[in-house]
Amino acid sequence: MAEKNPSKGIMWATIIVAVVLIAIIYPLTSRTYKSAADSSGAGSDQADLRIQPVAKFELAKAAPAAAAGPKDGATIYNTVCGACHNTGVAGAPKIDDKAAWAPRLATGKEALYKSALGGKNAMPAKGGAADLSDAEIKATVDYMMGKVK
Ligand code: HEC
Repeated sequence: MAEKNPSKGIMWATIIVAVVLIAIIYPLTSRTYKSAADSSGAGSDQADLRIQPVAKFELAKAAPAAAAGPKDGATIYNTVCGACHNTGVAGAPKIDDKAAWAPRLATGKEALYKSALGGKNAMPAKGGAADLSDAEIKATVDYMMGKVK
């Protein structure tokens, strides 16, 4: 009995660390692969294609995030929130699980904005993407609500 709790704690710590890593790494990888795919039509050869993810990543780091303008809800969902809300990891309500969302929708949009902005239990503030503006997060919640209604 007494040993059960510490090992549970370690299990949760491991899950949380994994989730945070996914939340950080997933947006980076999907962004770089998308840009690689975008420009792959222009007759680039294999070597170009292979270095592109790295080259683009360096560019993405160099360019200030604000220069791209606000991102829309679908983009943010797919790069940030989907890491948890597509799979239901850490108890996140899945995007296609209407039953899981119904009681949350009933709390009203403002309450959901508040959870998304400030975090709730295993849900990190702004889904862990602290660089996103409040307006971007709200647009993403709107996008999600459109999907679960
Ligand atoms: C690290 C995993 C993770 C990421 C990334 C994540 N969420 Fe969540 N989210 C959760 C979990 C877990 C819950 C359930 C929290 C609870 O009710 O205990 C949740 C709940 C929510 C809720 C319902 C809150 C409520 O009051 O019931 C909203 C809205 C939400 N997330 C929006 C987002 C948005 C928008 C993003 C992207 C910007 C995002 N989430 C990214 C894990 C995540």
